[in-house]
Amino acid sequence: MKKIILAAALAALSSPALAASTDAGKYQIVLGDCEGCHGKNLAGGVALTTPFGKMVTPNITPDKDTGIGNYSAEDFRQAMKVGVAPGGKLLYPAMPYPSYARMSDSDIAALWGYLKTVKPVKNQINVNQLRFPFNLRFSMRGWNMLFFASAPYANNPAKSAAWNRGAYLVSGAGHCGACHTPKNAFGADKAAALTGAALQGWFAPDLTSDAGAGLGSWSQADIVEYLQTGRNNRSMASGPMAEAVENSTSKMNAADLKAIAVYLKDLPASKGNGGGATGIEAQMKSGEVLYDISCAACHDRNGKGSLIFPPLAGNPTVRQVRADSIVRMVLAGGKGAATAKAPTGPGMPSFAWRLRDTQVADILTYVRNNWGNRAPAVSPETVGRIRSSLHGS
Ligand code: HEC
Ligand code: HEC
Ligand code: HEC
Repeated sequence: MKKIILAAALAALSSPALAASTDAGKYQIVLGDCEGCHGKNLAGGVALTTPFGKMVTPNITPDKDTGIGNYSAEDFRQAMKVGVAPGGKLLYPAMPYPSYARMSDSDIAALWGYLKTVKPVKNQINVNQLRFPFNLRFSMRGWNMLFFASAPYANNPAKSAAWNRGAYLVSGAGHCGACHTPKNAFGADKAAALTGAALQGWFAPDLTSDAGAGLGSWSQADIVEYLQTGRNNRSMASGPMAEAVENSTSKMNAADLKAIAVYLKDLPASKGNGGGATGIEAQMKSGEVLYDISCAACHDRNGKGSLIFPPLAGNPTVRQVRADSIVRMVLAGGKGAATAKAPTGPGMPSFAWRLRDTQVADILTYVRNNWGNRAPAVSPETVGRIRSSLHGS
């Protein structure tokens, strides 16, 4: 009798139950894109460029000497939701704890359950390579006081379950605002959530339903398709978003993607980001000629794109106030996201060697103010600035 009970208990402990709980934790890794920053094996060493200097991500495998093998469950919860690691070490918000603070304790516990099971890797990291005075950790005390209150996600009873799930994912584990919300001089969120922000030579577009710069003209299905495959018939994810798609959103389940789309489509239009250019006739003329020569073969003369090349007409990435992402795209080229549903990302060639700053500025001003697009003109100075930042990196 005893033997049978023991066997039953063991069976319950092993496959289905345990597997279900580690699967749940593994899925939280996907939702939070931990691998995007801490590396595929979670052993850290990924360099992050911040406006305050460089940080290299720590090892979060259960190695006792160089990882988080000495953490307790509560230590982990504090690091994720309060931004404080054992010993009172204040974490920098380059680790998105201001977003993870909104995760539920049960999701954090599932994540912890999984992290304990990953292979420990010995990898000593020198995390803090920020410039003085930002390298002084205690300065984060002031930052936390000014800009951070650890508050869990509060359900909004006036909205549907899907909306609430979407809001929870976007503001919590998904930390979409870490890139899409404008930042103040201290790198903290400004009030206007998800209205678009510049980062590392890219621009993370407005995700509100603004018809110009935002997702106003996207359907829920368009959003789901973009997050799942890295492309749709309106745009294509590149740079930091291609990484977010590959590691995270392409692996989210269909219900969660739908929930994110429901929530984003309900965000009130931002109004701030958008507006056209004036006095640009000369740039438009030169831009049209250059566009037809250099770009139309792939993006179509009417900016409509094709199955594998993204359209530029009606593409919100093209219409953001800051043109950084598209200038960078033309200078450096790009490779779309490769996902399970669309394995090889098509490439965009680099034009840095072929086009001068004024020519790139003319082409993009034309693209931004043609086929129904409207956005501020691009200056040769902007192109020059991004060209030199590309040389620098
Ligand atoms: C955008 C990049 C980024 C993402 C995404 C990210 N982290 Fe981090 N994480 C960092 C950085 C940078 C640090 C170091 C912060 C510091 O030392 O001040 C860090 C620190 C940590 C620490 C503290 C380690 C220590 O020093 O004791 C833990 C634990 C951690 N991350 C877990 C996670 C988990 C789990 C996820 C996914 C849910 C995650 N991180 C996602 C960048 C990231
Ligand atoms: C690491 C930074 C980063 C994170 C995190 C991030 N994004 Fe993005 N996102 C970007 C950038 C940069 C672009 C522009 C990509 C381009 O120019 O091709 C973008 C583009 C997009 C677009 C296309 C918008 C358009 O107008 O073309 C959508 C939709 C989007 N992101 C949704 C999300 C959602 C939802 C999340 C959270 C689950 C998220 N993003 C997290 C940086 C990020
Ligand atoms: C050989 C085909 C090809 C040519 C020629 C080409 N592109 Fe692209 N373009 C692409 C592909 C493929 C992508 C998507 C790559 C990615 O997202 O990383 C892209 C992406 C873009 C994007 C970003 C769209 C988005 O939704 O993120 C812009 C803007 C752009 N191209 C403008 C131009 C301009 C301007 C020219 C001419 C100077 C040009 N392209 C020439 C293939 C091409």
